[in-house]
Parts: sequence; structure tokens; C-alpha cells
Amino acid sequence: MRTPTLGFKLSQAALNTASPPISQAFLWATQYVPTPGRPLLDMSQGSPGYPPPKILLDTIATASANPRSCGYLPNAGDPLLREALANEMKTVYGKDIDVQTEDISLTAGCNMAFVAAIRSVTDAGDEVIVPAPWYFNHQMSLDMLDIKTIPLPTSPSDGFLPSPHVCGTLVTPKTKAIVLVTPNNPTGAVYPPSLIASFGMLAKQHGVVLIIDETYRDFVTTGVPHELFATSSLLSDDWSWRSHFIHLFSFSKSYCVPGHRLGAIVATPQVLVQIDKMLDNIQICPPRPVQHGLQPLLPALRPFIDETSQKLLRRHQLFRSLLPRPWRIGSQGAYYAFVRHPFKNIPSLDVSRRLAMEIGVITLPSTFFLPKFMEGLRDASEMDRWIRFSVANMDDENLQKVCQRLASCQDQFGWEVELE
Ligand SMILES: Cc1ncc(COP(=O)(O)O)c(C=O)c1O
Repeated sequence: MRTPTLGFKLSQAALNTASPPISQAFLWATQYVPTPGRPLLDMSQGSPGYPPPKILLDTIATASANPRSCGYLPNAGDPLLREALANEMKTVYGKDIDVQTEDISLTAGCNMAFVAAIRSVTDAGDEVIVPAPWYFNHQMSLDMLDIKTIPLPTSPSDGFLPSPHVCGTLVTPKTKAIVLVTPNNPTGAVYPPSLIASFGMLAKQHGVVLIIDETYRDFVTTGVPHELFATSSLLSDDWSWRSHFIHLFSFSKSYCVPGHRLGAIVATPQVLVQIDKMLDNIQICPPRPVQHGLQPLLPALRPFIDETSQKLLRRHQLFRSLLPRPWRIGSQGAYYAFVRHPFKNIPSLDVSRRLAMEIGVITLPSTFFLPKFMEGLRDASEMDRWIRFSVANMDDENLQKVCQRLASCQDQFGWEVELE
């Protein structure tokens, strides 16, 4: 079909927003010819490589068949699921947290939670500080809303952990929010509670909001993800999370239901009143069947989540032990491993492209997670050596195959390999 000339103008904000990068990686993969012995191995999009528990599939099916599910719910979602989530958060953050049903709004996924939260605290022209490499949808959303993303560079030598001190130097009168993702996408880095506490105090000091996307919070295996919600915590005595913090969550990974689209925002009701306006216009209430299906099951599904989290931990250990040298893991955790490729002076985009096209392993290059032209990064060429592998997508057998193919491609590609 011939593309007709457009008789009207597209918005500058839309044109300034990058295209979704995962489709680019899938496009490379179309060049690969799989065989039964050498299937395509997809480690690109963070997607659970295992189904949800049967009991959850059953309750969602029952809820779908109920005519009641065809109607609207309040924008904030099912009050019973909001209550169940508030209780469930005690098992994640500790019994003494102060999060109530009224602090929670459900959304159609965490990306939507981010857009609604950020829109409620920023106007066009404002600035938001985000550690780089970052989750590309955050930057895309900020571009779409005409908000300037200020990169807070992180580096492999610091385990890709952001520095509150450096962050403080980036705050200007236009700064409205600091956005963190922990466990991180793309680096897998798990930010320690003390670091998160420092960011909480920094936000308080500068009168900006700290927004943390905790899509992967259930895969932290080292204790509570942070103490921002706790009534007695690492933070100062006068810390009150409702004054400085917005938490975002996704049900997609913990409960293996990304296609059902369910996320959550935890914020003070003063912010939720504004968020309600966003939701009313973007999507009136998240899909109902998944809400009704999950609501009675949250406590019962906790052992499933804990087992999954332990399985993922073992898979990361396996990946670390099988990865052929001189490929090297810089950080790993939850769903992702951030891996340094061994090819001298070759951009990560070229490596990821050939991995997909020639050896059938789909990954995402670090350039997809970095500012355009990597302005402001301490060492742009070093940052372009990294590739994100979504370890959660694979079972152990396929993970072995990936590592075998990585070993063999070093000769096949004919690029100079930099020894350690
Ligand atoms: C950090 C982060 N936030 C949000 C999302 C999207 O979550 P949802 O499926 O709930 O929209 C993802 C998905 O990969 C993610 O990695």
C-alpha cells in the first residue's frame, strides 16, 4: 500500500519520542533461520518464562465468565484487591509499615502507573532525574509529556548504583522528581535499603518527590527492599513517606500475568485525587477479571512468588558459571544480567544485532537504555559495551544453549576479542 501524504501535522512531542526498541530486536531476529536443533532463544523482553499457578488461571477464568466483570469499577480498581495488596505489602516490607487501602490505586500496568504518577507531579518543561542506563519507557513517557530527563550516570565500577551526592548536584529549580527502579531494569542492580533511604532524604531536602518503580520488588532475596514505608526506619524521625514518596508496582512479573495488564500506585491520597483524574481519561479502571481472580489469592500465592524468586537466583548463578570468558557480568538481579561483551571497539547495538541474526539469541544493547548520544555519561564508549540478558525468560537447558552459542560466536563474528 502506498503511504499517502499526511494532510495535518504530527505533534512534536510524539515525533521527539523514540520508537519502542523491543520491536527493533524482534526485527533482527526475523533474519535468523531456526532449526529444531537450534531454536530462536529470546532473552530480550522481560517476560516470565513460566505460567502463573493453575489456581490463578482458574479464578481469572471464572471471573471472566461472570457478567459482573463486564461493568466498570471505580478508576482506582477493586477496593477489595487494594485492601488485599495493602496487607500483602506487609509480607514484603515488614509488619510495621503504614500503608492503607486509601493509599493505593490500581492501574492497567506499571507503565501506566508511571505516566499517571509523573503527570500528577510535573508540567511540560520540568525536569526529572533518572539514573542511566534507564528503563527506556520512562524516558519515552517523559519525552511524550515534554518533560526533560536528566541522566544521573552510573558506572560498572560502582555496580551501576546511583550516587545520591551526584544526584544532589543535578537538582535545579525545575526538578520535580527523582525516579529510581530497583531491582533495576536494565542492569539488575538491587539498590541497598541504605542507598534508597539516602535518596528519600535527598528528595525531602530538595522538596521533590522520589518515585520508585518496584516492578521487581518480589525478587529481592536479601531482605526487605527498603524501609521507606516503615514506621521506625533508617530514615530520620520526622520522615513520613506520604510527604515525599510514590511507589509503583506491576503484577506482571510476580504473578506472571503481563497480558492481563495490572499495576498499582501507592501514594498519599492527596496525590491519588490528582491521579484519579489521569486514570479517568486514560483508562477507566484496569481490566476486571484479573483483579477479581487475584483478590482472594494474594496471601496463598506468596509461596509461589518466593519459590520463583529462589529459582531466579539459582538461574543467575548458573548463568554466571556458564558464561564464557571474556564475556563478563557487571551486575545481575531479579530478571536481568547486564553483561560486558568482549569485542574491541564494537558498539553493543552491532553485537546484539549479530547475536539475533546469526546465532538466534535475542538481547537488548545498552544503547537502548541510554540517553541519545550518551551526553553526560562519564565514559560513553565503556557504557556502549553492555548488553541486557533477560535471564527470567529461559529455563536452565536453554540458558546452557545461549552460553554455548556465545562461546562459538567469538570465532564466527571475526571481530577482535579483548582479553581480560
Ligand atoms: C521497570 C519496569 N517498569 C514497568 C514495566 C512494565 O510493567 P507493566 O507490564 O505492569 O506495564 C516493566 C516491564 O518490563 C519494567 O521493567
